[in-house]
Amino acid sequence: MKPEHTRRGFLLGTSALALSAAALNWADASAQSRYSFDTAVAIPPLYNGRIEGDVRVFDLNLQSGQTEFFAGLKTDTNGINGSFLGPVLRMRSGETVRMNVKNGLTFDSTLHWHGMNLPAKADGGPHQIIQPQQTWSPEFTVHEASSTTWYHSHQIHATASQVWSGLAGMIIIDDDASAELGLPNEYGVDDIPLVVQDRRFYRDGSMPYERSMHDEMAGMMGNVPLINGTVLPYFAVSNSKLRLRLLNGANASIYNLAFTDGRKFTQIASDGGLLPEPVQMSQLRLAPGERAEIVVDFIANEKVILQSAGTSRGSGMGMMMQEQNPRFDLIEFRTGEALSPSADIPPKLADLPPVSENDATRTRRFLLEMPGMGPMRMLGLGSGFNINGQSMDIGRIDEVVKIGETEIWEIENAGPMTHPFHIHNTQFRILDRDGRKPEPNESGLKDTVVVSPGEIVRLLVRFDNYTDPERPYMYHCHILEHEDAGMMGQFTVV
Ligand code: C2O
Ligand code: CU
Ligand code: CU
Repeated sequence: MKPEHTRRGFLLGTSALALSAAALNWADASAQSRYSFDTAVAIPPLYNGRIEGDVRVFDLNLQSGQTEFFAGLKTDTNGINGSFLGPVLRMRSGETVRMNVKNGLTFDSTLHWHGMNLPAKADGGPHQIIQPQQTWSPEFTVHEASSTTWYHSHQIHATASQVWSGLAGMIIIDDDASAELGLPNEYGVDDIPLVVQDRRFYRDGSMPYERSMHDEMAGMMGNVPLINGTVLPYFAVSNSKLRLRLLNGANASIYNLAFTDGRKFTQIASDGGLLPEPVQMSQLRLAPGERAEIVVDFIANEKVILQSAGTSRGSGMGMMMQEQNPRFDLIEFRTGEALSPSADIPPKLADLPPVSENDATRTRRFLLEMPGMGPMRMLGLGSGFNINGQSMDIGRIDEVVKIGETEIWEIENAGPMTHPFHIHNTQFRILDRDGRKPEPNESGLKDTVVVSPGEIVRLLVRFDNYTDPERPYMYHCHILEHEDAGMMGQFTVV
């Protein structure tokens, strides 16, 4: 049965823009031509854990609940220590943390610490299943520098539905070096998390995870954007500079973030932490799994909207390409009569080692393919979503890597859709895209990289600190429907 014909009634609209408008018209009869953005954005609770001996301990409960995304309508959702999404976990570089993750749901789940270098048994991937009513308590050292990362369900074949339902949250890592830079850092005031997602809502307020065949191919995309779980919110800006910690927590949408007045902003960090230098941007592409920290300047008495600008490209499979880059208004920023002055951003942010492929001992190739297309298919291999002709098999180790060795991972996209490729347990550097040096905002630490149709992206990869010949880590496309359908592989570090 197609979702359109269920008893839930019609979806909220028929195209992304019209749909959000319909959502608002329906949620708020007074909506004018542009939305009124009348809900303050939810700021997830900041959770510092508690100190036990010299370990920082977090108690996380996976739970089900109901969330009121639209006034008067209750939506069934899942969350961590709440009904939808989870708290922002804050920890310090160098310390040891323990996560007590209790599964209060009725089905198996996992919780993965995306972007972090940790023992394979603490990774929270498909091998660390937490059964209902069980508690899983991994402990690990925070090796990362100051950065924004996240945690989410990684249940085999069910990551997409579980993240869709709300099993995800942000992690903020602090360190001493970054504290001295004078960057905006007052949580919820001039340093705010923005978990950007979209969900497909029906008129009764439900957002079931029901996929059509097209959704299995293109990934689940919504008709309504959510910012920290809030529909079309605003944020009242009080300082002249605002730091936004952006996380694309969507299942499949790639956002082209820009302000409606075209203003420039400054990217200061990518997935794994601060960039060497701030980078001026007017548009930022953020794919599922990626994070970026940006700083935006404001003046008194203004309003500006952060939007996902969509895309005009796409040929042949153009429809699918456009869907991957939806057009959405996301959040409005408003200032009042006066703003507290903020310090300037320093011209130098972080020291990163130079990127040199001379350090590499070998090259591994990863060919990403979709069903029914590509060279492997023509050889009779890889009928579904696959990497190097192999669909994910939890009993098969695809690659064995030596600890501490620098390698080149060459990712080639043979299909018509963009794939954000993610590697667990490391922060890598981008060597080049089709032979071209990466843009300045992609020259820092990354754990997820966009690979466009036909493109070859080469990465400089290394795994430090932990070996485990038995338990693997994952690499995969972070479009969760592609991951669940088999565009994922496993590697051990020995
Ligand atoms: Cu964000 Cu393997 O995951
Ligand atoms: Cu990950
Ligand atoms: Cu993909």
